[in-house]
Amino acid sequence: MTDILLVFGTDTGNTEEAAEKIQERFSEAGHFVELMNVTDCSVDRINEADVCIFGIPTWDFGGIQGDWEDFEEELERADLKGKLIALYGLGDQFGYGDYFIDSVGWLHEIIEPMGASIKGYWPTEGYDFTDSRALSDCKTYFYGLAIDEDQQFELSNDRIQNWVEQLLEEFQLQEAA
Ligand SMILES: Cc1cc2nc3c(=O)[nH]c(=O)nc-3n(C[C@H](O)[C@H](O)[C@H](O)COP(=O)(O)O)c2cc1C
Repeated sequence: MTDILLVFGTDTGNTEEAAEKIQERFSEAGHFVELMNVTDCSVDRINEADVCIFGIPTWDFGGIQGDWEDFEEELERADLKGKLIALYGLGDQFGYGDYFIDSVGWLHEIIEPMGASIKGYWPTEGYDFTDSRALSDCKTYFYGLAIDEDQQFELSNDRIQNWVEQLLEEFQLQEAA
């Protein structure tokens, strides 16, 4: 069985709720995903997992969620070479349109040079924002799934469902159900 670990940080609960929905979708495909608050996480647990999903919200004009920021040094000690990783971020595209899901960009900047095999890039189509640190060079993809519970909560379930389907393919996980 594939060891899938989802690590999230959250200030007001939205990133944890998204984690539960992601877990549910994986479970429907027959895969167990362990959820872990980043405050409980360790470099050893990350090293052990076959697949990691990291969830992070952005706060205070492009600021990194505090618990993830505290975990930065530990994360930098992990062995991520070839590790399958996907990122998702919570943000508010109208309220903070110059900094939309910036924290995903921050995580990407850390893990990409470490040799992680990053999957789950997500099209920017359907979002209305000015700028983001989480944009790919061609500006048509985010470095992970963008979820906006403040402005587009009605789209979140479908986005999560489609993203998990994409991940199952990109991680080459068979439907085990
Ligand atoms: C004071 C404040 C600052 C915020 N700053 C940003 C920001 O810079 N970029 C962004 O995309 N979202 C920003 N947001 C939106 C949050 O990221 C969003 O509400 C998210 O769902 C919170 O996730 P959490 O409940 O897991 O902490 C901000 C929200 C507040 C209230």
